[in-house]
Amino acid sequence: MQTILAKASQLPYCSSLIQQGELVAFPTETVYGLGADATNDLACQKIYTVKRRPQDNPFIIHLANQNMLKEAAKEVPETAKELFKRFSPGPLTVVLPKTSLICSTATAGLSSVGIRIPASPLAQQFLSLCQRPIAGPSANRSGRPSPTNASMVYNELNGSIAAIIDGGSASIGLESTVVSCLQGKTVLLRAGSVSYEEIAEALNGEKVIYNQTETPNSPVLSPGQKYRHYQPDLPLLLTEELPWPQLLERFESQKIVLLTLTVPPDNLPERWQVYYFKTLADYAAQLYRIFTEAGNQNAQTIIAQTPQPGGLGLALKDRLQRAASGIIDWSANESYE
Ligand code: TXA
Ligand code: MG
Repeated sequence: MQTILAKASQLPYCSSLIQQGELVAFPTETVYGLGADATNDLACQKIYTVKRRPQDNPFIIHLANQNMLKEAAKEVPETAKELFKRFSPGPLTVVLPKTSLICSTATAGLSSVGIRIPASPLAQQFLSLCQRPIAGPSANRSGRPSPTNASMVYNELNGSIAAIIDGGSASIGLESTVVSCLQGKTVLLRAGSVSYEEIAEALNGEKVIYNQTETPNSPVLSPGQKYRHYQPDLPLLLTEELPWPQLLERFESQKIVLLTLTVPPDNLPERWQVYYFKTLADYAAQLYRIFTEAGNQNAQTIIAQTPQPGGLGLALKDRLQRAASGIIDWSANESYE
């Protein structure tokens, strides 16, 4: 199959591809999604095949606006209404009971559905033209970093999908915040740029559970959270501190890619590729692109500084931990993996 790289002027053609049951990757402000008609089992099945995604991991359903909520959600409790009012359109997904219009392949057989109204204007135009809910997991192969620009999608899925809508670089760069509002409880299933603190504040102090630590025996609330994710081609080592002399001593001879929130000294080896981020937002926006590019730069190891878990730091830390192969132990002689 030939994959076309589509511009804004080709959105009507791309929406007709969706209506014919084809897959079209589309930009959002978080990451690129791999779109299919969420009411069409066969179209949704193609997503599992192309992504090599486990069959038990449901897709997020994208809507153009809140008027379409009733097509996807059977009930919208007050907490969910408040969350949509405060954070949509935007980087938020809310899990609600599903309608029968959403096909069971899209939700992996679950009776609930994760709903998102993205803010990116191109995404909104595309969704409006499609005139139906659109299933859209991130447009990467399972386990790999999510794509934050059209060429990342192209390099991974060229030849297996009908089109990629080029909307430039995603401004946020991390996947949406996922909040479940089922059975009267509010559970943060995946941290994102709408922070835990903002959600708690919007709900006026109502209890918000953060379900990060699922154990093998606990019931799985969000199937995606049990899989390893976002992995770059190179080993990724994490550290909270950056003791520069020790870092130099241990990694001087290696070609490393370093992601830091601390101002680097000037005496670092030239062969090191150093990214210094002044803000967490900048770190998030560039993370997956750097993961992907590092694999092409003949580097041996990526070392990333983990942020404190407040605000966007919680989401960044979560993605880094899921992608990592180890944590550097500065008290030991060697790093372990
Ligand atoms: O920012 C995003 O959310 C991007 C863009 C394209 O919208 N999409 C995305 O989709 O990250 P995906 O499939 O890569 O991640 C969806 C996550 C998975 O962890 C999945 O298990 C969870 O949302 N999820 C989807 N439907 C669910 C449901 N009904 N109940 C619980 N978790 C659900
Ligand atoms: Mg994904």
